[in-house]
Amino acid sequence: MLKTLITFATLLAVPAFAQKDLPDGPGKPVAVRVCTGCHGAEMFSATRLGQAEWDRMVANMTTERGVTISDADYAAVLKYLVTYLSPPKANVNQTPDSR
Ligand code: HEC
Repeated sequence: MLKTLITFATLLAVPAFAQKDLPDGPGKPVAVRVCTGCHGAEMFSATRLGQAEWDRMVANMTTERGVTISDADYAAVLKYLVTYLSPPKANVNQTPDSR
């Protein structure tokens, strides 16, 4: 029991290398590099936004939170976020949980 607790505590103590929460795809390494310096990927991996909202979010990170990012990285990250972390298309055959 104690061992289980210790294992659990160790898991919690591991810093947020929560990249596993991000879907695989082109642009993921850039997103991980650019977006997990200050907080873990879990800060945004469950967020589902459209293109305009993601653009605003990434722009907000650069203006308000001091993210420095090249134009190329900005484009790559934005494309990744829009492609993989966008709201599911309305589909009557899909429950909200099935994505
Ligand atoms: C320079 C540090 C830094 C970097 C790099 C960074 N962020 Fe953030 N981010 C923050 C801070 C600070 C917060 C607020 C944390 C809190 O409220 O606990 C935050 C919060 C967020 C939130 C939660 C919503 C909000 O506005 O509070 C999202 C989503 C987010 N970041 C996405 C991203 C994405 C996507 C990237 C990559 C483009 C990124 N962040 C890179 C500092 C950063």
